[in-house]
Amino acid sequence: MTNSAGPLPSIPEFSEASLALDIRDLSLDGEGIAGPPEGSVPPALPVLVPGALPGERVLATITGQGQRFRHGRLEAVLEASIDRRQPPCAVAATCGGCSLQHWADGAQAAWKEQQLRRTLQRVGGLTPPVRPILAADTTFAYRNRAILPLRRESGRIQAGFYRRGSHELVPVNSCPVLDPRIDALIEPLCHDLSATDWPTYDEATTEGVLRHLVLRVGHHNGDLLVGLIAASEDLPDLDLLAGSWMERWPRLVGVVLNLQPRPTNVLFGPTEHLVAGRPWLLDRFGGFTVPVALDTFHQVHTPQAERLLPLLREALDLQPGDRLLDAYCGSASLSLPLLGPGIDLVGFERHRTSVELANLAAQLNGLESVKILVGAVERLLPEWLPDSRCLLLDPPRKGLEAPVREAILADPPERLAYVSCNPATLARDLAQLTADGQLTLEWVQPLDFFPQTTHCEAVACLVRSAGQR
Ligand SMILES: C[S@@+](CC[C@H](N)C(=O)[O-])C[C@H]1O[C@@H](n2cnc3c(N)ncnc32)[C@H](O)[C@@H]1O
Repeated sequence: MTNSAGPLPSIPEFSEASLALDIRDLSLDGEGIAGPPEGSVPPALPVLVPGALPGERVLATITGQGQRFRHGRLEAVLEASIDRRQPPCAVAATCGGCSLQHWADGAQAAWKEQQLRRTLQRVGGLTPPVRPILAADTTFAYRNRAILPLRRESGRIQAGFYRRGSHELVPVNSCPVLDPRIDALIEPLCHDLSATDWPTYDEATTEGVLRHLVLRVGHHNGDLLVGLIAASEDLPDLDLLAGSWMERWPRLVGVVLNLQPRPTNVLFGPTEHLVAGRPWLLDRFGGFTVPVALDTFHQVHTPQAERLLPLLREALDLQPGDRLLDAYCGSASLSLPLLGPGIDLVGFERHRTSVELANLAAQLNGLESVKILVGAVERLLPEWLPDSRCLLLDPPRKGLEAPVREAILADPPERLAYVSCNPATLARDLAQLTADGQLTLEWVQPLDFFPQTTHCEAVACLVRSAGQR
């Protein structure tokens, strides 16, 4: 659908390589995809056009070619989608934090649902019942965590996000997707850091110290946690600065220094020092108290993530006497709220701080039948599967390792809920888990946890088929 209303970029002079293109879809990076242009010599490749939206006719200049796609630069929108809008953020076109701010929220959510269906079919050959996506009520001002690279420019420290596809900083003082309570900290913290003589880390030379600013807020109770990721401890008087921040912001519960000395893209290093206060904030999740540290996993859109809980209750159908296995449990914020009388929880998690916080969460919520084991799921799960009726899986983006899928197929649980933030690995894993007929895929529910980006969350419900085991 198109209209001609609304401000459109003015049409510049076109080079010979400018083409009128019809955008038929969106890539996973949020670029418009145009089919081979009319009249092109076959076999022309589809063109990726950042900034273009499905249903639009645009003018683009071809700037390069890869193996599967050509790359185009958007010159003008000739016929705009009715779902195109002015992005609320001034740097939306360059900042790599968001890729869909120029698209109406409803269109984003509908595309994610469609994308999930197509991926299940294309990657896994699966056509399960996919429920309508649970779109978010709050599509801006939702992110409860920010990790911002730092650079010193002309003496001033700037925080920002990387330009799309690069490590070039796009400075921001404010970001409309962040929870306003952490957004409000960016400018004053950068101001204070500018007044020090601490050098920022340079990835090219590996010299300098300050790397990233980390901000976290407890959505429901407003606790704040501030962290610095640095290449070394060479930050004179950091404790004095941290003390002044604790005085200035009464909701700030702690300031943490994480050391990442290695020349790597891995954000957090293995060593952490508490500079002031305590190293975790407390929040509520599904009515339960959850501690959140600088580097522990906690879903970034709390109200949307809480919508998982009734879905997990439905999928797992826990009964007194059941043992629930929570694989990739983090600090167990998804599984603790599911427990009821007579239900045991065994969690598996390899990140030691998360395990400590999961145990703390169990204690804070008065739950005794909880055992959290430190280690790899692939090693721990096989031992526990034979005695457990219900399994919750919430792996990282790469999905399940082959030994985990094999262990599940060797001892399929009666009820299995699989939470995923990557439709492609979900499709692969569901196809393999259901291939021999022991497990049946009952339904898949997409949820929009990440408005303004192409990311999509989903939960799948599998049950052991009658007569198995
Ligand atoms: C997507 S998070 C889910 C956390 C938790 N379910 C939640 O919602 O808070 C994935 C978690 O799995 C952990 N993890 C990743 N690979 C693992 C593995 N092979 N064995 C154990 N834990 C792993 C990560 O440390 C992370 O805490």
